Amino acid sequence: MTGSGAGRFALGDLTVDRLGFGAMRLTGSRPFSAGEPSDRDTSIAMLRRAVDRGVDHVDTAAFYFSRTRSANELINTALAPYPDDLVIVTKVGPHRGLDGSWNGKPEPADLRGQVEENLRQLGRDHLSVVNYRTYGPGPVAEHVGALHDLVTEGLVRHVGVSNVTVEQLDEALTVGPVVCVQNRYSLDSDHSHDVLARCGELGIAFVPFFAIAGPGREAGATEEVDVVGEVAAEVGASPAQVRIAYTLHQGDHVLAIPGTSNPDHLDANLDAGRVRLTDDQVRRLGQA
Ligand SMILES: NC(=O)c1ccc[n+]([C@@H]2O[C@H](COP(=O)([O-])OP(=O)(O)OC[C@H]3O[C@@H](n4cnc5c(N)ncnc54)[C@H](OP(=O)(O)O)[C@@H]3O)[C@@H](O)[C@H]2O)c1
Repeated sequence: MTGSGAGRFALGDLTVDRLGFGAMRLTGSRPFSAGEPSDRDTSIAMLRRAVDRGVDHVDTAAFYFSRTRSANELINTALAPYPDDLVIVTKVGPHRGLDGSWNGKPEPADLRGQVEENLRQLGRDHLSVVNYRTYGPGPVAEHVGALHDLVTEGLVRHVGVSNVTVEQLDEALTVGPVVCVQNRYSLDSDHSHDVLARCGELGIAFVPFFAIAGPGREAGATEEVDVVGEVAAEVGASPAQVRIAYTLHQGDHVLAIPGTSNPDHLDANLDAGRVRLTDDQVRRLGQA
């Protein structure tokens, strides 16, 4: 078995290892906070290490920045000239001003500028996959349509959506192809089970975020639930590895983008693709 051991899955005409990397925590362990920015050399080394270990799917956004670090700039510095097979997935919708404050809900026409901002920061002429990240319930067709206009112009190759309900996903599909859905999902969250299933029916990727952090969300992992520790001991893995493996066991269409600011955790997370759980362990974890 090559790569992470988790297998591969298609994002449109691009195929990626099911175990990728989320770049949000590269700017500091507490994203969006005014806390201490990350060590620059460490973040760059982590990106290079990830790609050396076979990561070919990196998730990012222009709004992933702390006071002095930008995830996109770190990716550009660490990885350009980019390997041909590297798929960088970015997201638009949310936008932050120079002081880090959130700019509020965008109009469809605003998404062009956000895509161009990602192109500049990443040093690319086109983006492989761009997710339209919603602010919650409501229509999505006009925003998703604006991204498809950029596909026609050659600035974007594939469109995805993020933070959507099944209804929003189905609405997005009326406008054009959607190659992935990125939603919050973890073994101890009742969030997005229906969206994960719908993506399976459609044969498109479901990409969980906060799979390790769970209810801790941006603040990070909280005290571990007992059954995760029990299963971790049974399979000889860490709780975080079990959390990643649990998501990958939800279907071949489920990808993982674990995020970390810790080089040791990066290696551990990339080893999680080889953690195998029994049906009974998956069932017990799902009851957490
Ligand atoms: N579409 C969206 O709205 C959205 C929202 C949030 C995130 N995302 C994307 O999803 C990615 C994943 O989310 P995430 O980074 O917040 O959460 P995550 O991968 O679920 O978990 C990160 C948290 O777990 C800790 N952690 C990571 N690996 C660990 C390990 N092996 N052992 C112990 N603790 C570990 C991290 O702390 P350390 O730093 O100390 O390792 C951090 O507190 C992000 O990087 C981002 O690309 C998308």
